[in-house]
Order: sequence, then structure tokens, then C-alpha cells
Amino acid sequence: MIITVDGPAAAGKGELTQRLAAHFGYARLDTGKLYRAVGLKVLGAGGDPEDEAAAVEAARALTGDDLEAPGLRSEDAALSASKVAAIPAVRDVLLEFQRGFAAAPPGGAEGAVFDGRDTGTVVIPDAPAKLFLTASPEVRATRRVKQLQEQGTEAIYGRVLQELKERDARDTSRKVAPLKPAEDALVIDTSHLDADAVYAAALEFISAKAPD
Ligand code: CDP
Repeated sequence: MIITVDGPAAAGKGELTQRLAAHFGYARLDTGKLYRAVGLKVLGAGGDPEDEAAAVEAARALTGDDLEAPGLRSEDAALSASKVAAIPAVRDVLLEFQRGFAAAPPGGAEGAVFDGRDTGTVVIPDAPAKLFLTASPEVRATRRVKQLQEQGTEAIYGRVLQELKERDARDTSRKVAPLKPAEDALVIDTSHLDADAVYAAALEFISAKAPD
């Protein structure tokens, strides 16, 4: 069983996918972390995330340690992630890893929950249960500021909002695997819903897709 949850930044995908994975006992893959790690690796080597050769090299050389790198949750990592994510050859390298995860979820889990932008449209197009979370940019920026502050990072609302819009624009307009809901996805606008309500709606949808 594969569940995909896609959508723009700070729409609530992280919390929902963690709860779903815990509920079903499935493995969870935060695919954004892969792009963040590649972006940060390029920056760390003094490179430009828009430089295809540097980004592809970083994607190929990605290690487990890179996925635990400090700074992965920073806004710099997010912005560089959206730059490397627009390079088709980088996406190809990461696609292989993601499909491998779906085919054999770690820990012998019977399913996997994917958190990303294109996991229902491109990575696992035949996933039985697809969700797409969204919310207004202002609500998402408010949530992201709170998250950043909770992790001890100073965050200015106006700047976070601007960076979020910049990433949304790059993610939705790129030629390969743009951010958009799959045709068969349940779209949930979380602007006025709390995490419990989103979780309840998601569970109901998934149960209808995969009875028992
Ligand atoms: O946590 P947040 O939603 O802010 O971002 P993320 O999920 O960590 O993703 C960071 C960036 O990676 C996104 O803005 C996308 O450009 C890229 N990404 C992607 O292209 N495809 C994915 N499946 C996941 C992330």
C-alpha cells in the first residue's frame, strides 16, 4: 500500500504523513529532505544550486549523513532545494531511490507514506491513495514562522512569505514534475482546518480506497 501526500510548503504534509505512517505502521519518506540535502551539499561545496553538473554530482553522491545534516530545515536549504529540484537530471537520480523505497519499504513495512510535490503524479502514479494538501500562502507562512521559531531560528514573516511564494512559483512552473494535484487526488485546503480535522478527512478517504 502506498499513500502519497503532495502539496506546497507548510500545508501540513509533515504532520499528516507522520500520523498516517504511525497509524498504519508504514515507512515514511520525506522526499523534500532529499532535495534539501542535495541543495545543501552543493552550497557546502561552494557551488551554485542552479549549476546542473554540480547538482547532479551532489545527488549521485548523497549519503545517509547528508540526510541528517544540520541546517536541513533552514530556509536556505529550502530555496536551494527548489533550485536543484528544477533540474531534470537531479530528479532522475532521486526518482530511482524513491521508487526503490516504495517497492521495498524499510523495516519490512507493508506500505509507505510519501511526502512531497510530485509523488502522486510522477514518482508513484499508480498509488491507490493520493492526497494533496494546500492552504493560502499567508496561513502557510504563519505556520512556517512558528516552526522555524520552535527550532530556535529567528524568522521574519514578510521574508518567509516572500521565499515561500518564490518556491511555489518555481515548483509549479518547472517543466519536469511540476507541483500539481494528481487527477485522482483528494485535495484538502487546510487554511481553516486543524491537524486533527485533516487527519480525519485523510483517514476516511484512505479507508474508502483500501477497505479492510
Ligand atoms: O518542508 P517544505 O514543504 O517547505 O519543503 P520540502 O518538502 O522539504 O521541499 C523542499 C523543496 O524540494 C520544494 O520546494 C521543491 O522544490 C522540492 N521538492 C520537489 O521538487 N519534489 C518533491 N517530491 C519534494 C520536494
